[in-house]
Amino acid sequence: MLGKALMREWNGDAVTGLNSRDADIRDAKRVQQAVRDSRSECIVLAAAYTDVDGCENNPELAFAVNRDGAVNVASAAREAGARLLFLSSDYVFDGKKTQPYETGATRNPQSVYGRSKAEAEMALIEVLPESCIARTSWLFGTGGKCFPDTILKLAASRPALDVVNDQRGCPTYVIDLARAIVQLCRKDARGIVHATNAGDCTWFEFAQEIVRSAGFATEVRPVSSAQMARPAPRPSYSVLSAASLRRLGIEMPTWQDALRRYMDERNKLGS
Ligand SMILES: NC(=O)c1ccc[n+]([C@@H]2O[C@H](COP(=O)([O-])OP(=O)(O)OC[C@H]3O[C@@H](n4cnc5c(N)ncnc54)[C@H](OP(=O)(O)O)[C@@H]3O)[C@@H](O)[C@H]2O)c1
Repeated sequence: MLGKALMREWNGDAVTGLNSRDADIRDAKRVQQAVRDSRSECIVLAAAYTDVDGCENNPELAFAVNRDGAVNVASAAREAGARLLFLSSDYVFDGKKTQPYETGATRNPQSVYGRSKAEAEMALIEVLPESCIARTSWLFGTGGKCFPDTILKLAASRPALDVVNDQRGCPTYVIDLARAIVQLCRKDARGIVHATNAGDCTWFEFAQEIVRSAGFATEVRPVSSAQMARPAPRPSYSVLSAASLRRLGIEMPTWQDALRRYMDERNKLGS
């Protein structure tokens, strides 16, 4: 989803987009060759095993792709003299805070997915200390399966929806994130950065706004995470502070504004 948005939004530079068939990031030799062939100055690693519940049930694959795959890309970047921007996640935090997480906050992931991302971050800092680690959260966009799309499809056929109201985070439109990533690369950003749309909400509040802006009469009912048990635990609060992005002179729009643009994009695509 983010990879497609990056390919759309990155103008003015020569950009090569690679998918999982071009290079499986678990294959160090193939990755090394792909990085050499692309002769890129800057690599954005948006590939990951992103199914959070899938990771919980298949930790070997999660660590092989999300941690070891990232190390393969970082090693190839180091060898080729390229810079690396790695996408990480709010799920590296335990969610016990009640104020936005700053970049230096202690990692304490609660899920396999979160652990695989946290371990990738720590390994990258060793392998390629000048890497940029961009943590983001709750991605949505037209290029893949996402929460607003699921809610819109369900709302079209159901009179009521139950949505969890005890997890708070920052929904982020992949188009806005892609634009921020282009700026981060152009500014040669290094270290950890938090990049999300501005503002925060719970999944319930997000769903309410989605249903309202689509004009559905569907009732959205708040429920607890315990009522909607899933294999992987999620942080109850994973709002990422915008301070690191602001220090670099980058501002992202609010998630409500982003949602409006996503709905327009979706309507234009006729989905
Ligand atoms: N989605 C979110 O809410 C969220 C939140 C925080 C952080 N992030 C991070 O943001 C980044 C982008 O997320 P996204 O939602 O755009 O992900 P996505 O839509 O799930 O796309 C992930 C991509 O990674 C590829 N991939 C998976 N395993 C691979 C492998 N072994 N080798 C090469 N490619 C592989 C997939 O290819 P195939 O489809 O061919 O398998 C897919 O194209 C990821 O690093 C993710 O962890 C996402």
